[in-house]
Amino acid sequence: MFEDQVAKRMGLLHTESAFAILAKAKALEAQGKSIIHLEIGQPDFKTPKNIIEAAYKAMNDGFTGYTPTPGFPEVRETIANYAAKQKGIKTSMEEVVVVPGGKPVMFYTMLMLVNPGDEVVYPNPSFPIYESCIKFAGGVPVPIPLTSENNFRIDIEYFKKSITPKTKLVLINNPSNPTGGVLEKEDILAIADVLRDRPDIFIMSDEIYDRLVFDGNVFSIAALPEFKDRTIILDGFSKTYAMTGWRLGYGIMHKDLAKHMEMLMVNSNSCSAAFTQIAGMEALKGPQDAVEEMKAAFKERRDYLIGALNKIDGISCCMPKGAFYAFPSIKSFGISSSEFASRLLDEAGVAAAGGTAFGEYGEGYIRLSYANSLDNLKIAVDRIEKFTKTLKK
Ligand SMILES: Cc1ncc(COP(=O)(O)O)c(C=O)c1O
Repeated sequence: MFEDQVAKRMGLLHTESAFAILAKAKALEAQGKSIIHLEIGQPDFKTPKNIIEAAYKAMNDGFTGYTPTPGFPEVRETIANYAAKQKGIKTSMEEVVVVPGGKPVMFYTMLMLVNPGDEVVYPNPSFPIYESCIKFAGGVPVPIPLTSENNFRIDIEYFKKSITPKTKLVLINNPSNPTGGVLEKEDILAIADVLRDRPDIFIMSDEIYDRLVFDGNVFSIAALPEFKDRTIILDGFSKTYAMTGWRLGYGIMHKDLAKHMEMLMVNSNSCSAAFTQIAGMEALKGPQDAVEEMKAAFKERRDYLIGALNKIDGISCCMPKGAFYAFPSIKSFGISSSEFASRLLDEAGVAAAGGTAFGEYGEGYIRLSYANSLDNLKIAVDRIEKFTKTLKK
């Protein structure tokens, strides 16, 4: 109903398939089927107690009303100090806009920068909402394929050729969803070299997984002084502090861009929830042990999962260096990623996302989120192995 009446622009939006797979998996569970959930990208840990207590206290202390649109000044300041230390950038509270989750930063960035016909260069496979937002803003998505052969790093020659006079924005996601790949500092420097002579091009650097790196740290392009003013950093609390449902994130950008993001916020959300902002301050300033514990658990699961997947005949999987996703190749089975994922759920009770849920270049892969217990991962691997034996190679 209303197909002819809804605005045409609605046809440009796409969804995040992981949520659809979750819904299907839940329906199968309701029918009594045993399902191992590896489809959804959220930590399986509880939000650390000190953060929950800070939120309770904030509510009791009266932090239940509207806040300034870009966030409480002390929250913005805390984020600026955190980002300066964590990412090695020079920033201040005027450059921070607090928003409900990481997603609004990508949506607002496209709306405030992309004119119809502008090209936006982005990795593919990648978070599906990138492409959706680019199209919604009237932009032209220009994909940079990521492949396991290249450890899911960006092919700089390909990237160079993708930059045209129409390029307005480049998206970087480090570490990457869905591949778990990490761009090394040399990759970021190579991207910077390509863009150095094009000061008209902006960069959105999605750093939502930057605390979930198993070896060393990631390097933010905004740490390069000449790129700082044209980079919009997307970050938030969802993944690092297991706070996906709290809806708290932030963008860091030049103060003149921050004003535009604030305008989009006042027109859509008014502000982010008051008590979650106060809890977010506790997250950044309080003890970080829980983050380290989660990271250690993810590393243990990663090491098990990748080792076990590579022992299955026909599957090969790169060692992801960050986030909590494995992106194994299933090319040898000769069926599409979506068929593989759909049959894996129906026939083997393992919920996973097909690689094309993240773009056309995800064909031949599936995404497994290892935000699940080691015991469940072992069951999943067992089921995947049995399932693959039913497929012809
Ligand atoms: C790469 C990437 N960026 C941004 C987000 C959005 O995060 P949030 O849930 O805080 O909106 C996600 C969530 O899955 C993600 O994977």
